[in-house]
Amino acid sequence: MVHHSKHLKLGKKHKEMDYLAGFLILSLTISCAASTLVENSFMKCMSNRVSDYSKSTEKTVFIKSSSLLYPKMLASLEQNPRWLNSSSKPLLIVAPSHESEIQAAILCSKEIGVHIRVRSGGHDYEGLSYKSYLCKTPFIMIDLINIRSIDINLSDETAWVQAGATLGELYYKISKASKVHGFPAGVCPSVGVGGHFSGGGFGAMVRKHGIAADQIVDAYLIDVNGKILDKKSMGEDVFWAIRGGSATSFGVILAWKVRLVRVPHIVTVFNVQRTLEQGVTKLIHRWQYIADKLHEDLFIRIVAQNTGANSKTIQGQFNSLFLGQKDNLISIMNESFPELGLQAKDCIEMSWIQSVLYLAGYNKDDPIELLLNRTTSYKSPFKAKSDFVQEPIPETGLEGVWKMLLNEDTLAMLIMDPFGGKMNEISETEIPFPHRKGNLYNIQYFVKWDENKIEESNKHIKWIRMVYQYMTPYVSKSPRASYYNYRDLDLGSNKNGNTSYSEASVWGINYFKRNFRRLAHIKTKFDPQNFFRNEQSIPILNFLP
Ligand SMILES: Cc1cc2nc3c(=O)[nH]c(=O)nc-3n(C[C@H](O)[C@H](O)[C@H](O)COP(=O)(O)OP(=O)(O)OC[C@H]3O[C@@H](n4cnc5c(N)ncnc54)[C@H](O)[C@@H]3O)c2cc1C
Ligand SMILES: *[C@@H]1O[C@H](CO)[C@@H](O)[C@H](O)[C@H]1NC(C)=O
Ligand SMILES: *[C@@H]1O[C@H](CO)[C@@H](O)[C@H](O)[C@H]1NC(C)=O
Ligand SMILES: *[C@@H]1O[C@H](CO)[C@@H](O)[C@H](O)[C@H]1NC(C)=O
Ligand SMILES: *[C@@H]1O[C@H](CO)[C@@H](O)[C@H](O)[C@H]1NC(C)=O
Ligand SMILES: *[C@@H]1O[C@H](CO)[C@@H](O)[C@H](O)[C@H]1NC(C)=O
Repeated sequence: MVHHSKHLKLGKKHKEMDYLAGFLILSLTISCAASTLVENSFMKCMSNRVSDYSKSTEKTVFIKSSSLLYPKMLASLEQNPRWLNSSSKPLLIVAPSHESEIQAAILCSKEIGVHIRVRSGGHDYEGLSYKSYLCKTPFIMIDLINIRSIDINLSDETAWVQAGATLGELYYKISKASKVHGFPAGVCPSVGVGGHFSGGGFGAMVRKHGIAADQIVDAYLIDVNGKILDKKSMGEDVFWAIRGGSATSFGVILAWKVRLVRVPHIVTVFNVQRTLEQGVTKLIHRWQYIADKLHEDLFIRIVAQNTGANSKTIQGQFNSLFLGQKDNLISIMNESFPELGLQAKDCIEMSWIQSVLYLAGYNKDDPIELLLNRTTSYKSPFKAKSDFVQEPIPETGLEGVWKMLLNEDTLAMLIMDPFGGKMNEISETEIPFPHRKGNLYNIQYFVKWDENKIEESNKHIKWIRMVYQYMTPYVSKSPRASYYNYRDLDLGSNKNGNTSYSEASVWGINYFKRNFRRLAHIKTKFDPQNFFRNEQSIPILNFLP
């Protein structure tokens, strides 16, 4: 199929185009209709490879055409219902409970000629862990929901975390083992470590400790031959690539070994809000000059948003974690950011694990078991994009975005995460995540709308593209960098899964800067047949230089 679509693109004569298009549709129908055959061969292959497999299949395999639980399985972890009607669903879902079943699923998919998609937490912004854009590439999904144990070792301050675990489960387990350890990763507890760590992963301790991928000291990766490799056997290059360079292009991550970090017994948080009337524009403008230079124990992010439909003002939330006590925080703020007017009553002291709950939107005294909930209340269609800011944006620039936010008739926001601190000390090439020194902060543009108004999707997507266009003069250039974990297919995609290096560079260099070339090099050696591929996987180089 890839072959034909290539001709289709090159075809000059209309007649030839029509003929090929007709052929394409015909084959699409065949490949979709023929799915039962694929399912049967897959099941047969699995039971040949895994002893006792038939006994467990009912619990571990969900077939699109016949399983009653299939829709539930598929919907259970997908965070963005923008694609509910999409026909590009997996033929079947395998939910292994043992690594041997993952190995078998890889080998069987290869044997039968279907693609795989791997889902850990299901938070991919473009749904790439559970959908594929073209029906012409039938695929199966490996769902790691049952592969999620976590082993904490306090004597060497590390943890082995299986890929299907969530951030919330990791934070919870750490807090049960120790009051003075934590982990620097994202703020949303339902995010999976499988995707998150392999694309970077940052949260409220990014200025103190860097990103999640910076803490990875070992990993188990299953390669295209079904072999389980660790740091040593996969080699230095592959171990470099999977830490932020899209592990999904290289294999299936079974588990990560990460370094834990020390946290104080007591931390302090605040969340203060200011509106346009209260001078939020000046405050955000000022914040840009100090947020990346503050003491690295202090992290202040901003969420600047409208208040939904018919919004009359912009609300800026200054959301902060300080790795220390209240008095100290107040004096740092008084010295560095007195304009905010932070008061003692705005500051709440608590344990680190309570701050995790708090920053995730719960109350300090809610049970920490809430962190274990994999179902968020948060599911609604959304679209996001990202930028990195290297020079403060002038007030007039900010005012222009506010106007756009006020014109959008659904909840829309800019989330601004400050860097600096530890991020400045790590080189751009240490791991594939390249956004280090020189970046003041990351912006995520985000718009969400009602699931019952799915027909309005295009309007909101158009809106966010317009904002992105507007921001061009204010953000990083050549490349205009983007964060891989905020995946954005507007940047470009491997439509047929077999795009050339130069075509893929359009988005690849935005995400990985000069590390992209090295990633492609490693990919070409490690998975030369391009088995592990998706719409934004690392491409194969035609000739290894
Ligand atoms: C509500 C929400 C909040 C977020 N908050 C933050 C945040 O605070 N900070 C931040 O940095 N990011 C954040 N993100 C982005 C998040 O880091 C990415 O979406 C991340 O890729 C999600 O990982 P996952 O395992 O949940 O997703 P999945 O959809 O399961 O996977 C994402 C990608 O990784 C691949 N993959 C998954 N598991 C494996 C595996 N075991 N082996 C190989 N490939 C695999 C998938 O195929 C897919 O391509 C947030 C996302 C959402 C939806
Ligand atoms: C999705 O499917 C449902 C049920 O089949 C239908 O009511 C709805 O209009 C569809 N939405 C879109 C955007 O096609
Ligand atoms: C924990 O780490 C120590 C030090 O590296 C090691 O000796 C010990 O075996 C580990 N414990 C477990 C349960 O793996
Ligand atoms: C804030 O700083 C001013 C002058 O820099 C000082 O007079 C005042 O006492 C400080 N307040 C607090 C609460 O630290
Ligand atoms: C998990 O969160 C969802 C959404 O907020 C909620 O409906 C559900 O009851 C929660 N489950 C538990 C066990 O708390
Ligand atoms: C991908 O494209 C390259 C060069 O364009 C070609 O040599 C290769 O056979 C293609 N692979 C597949 C799987 O189609």
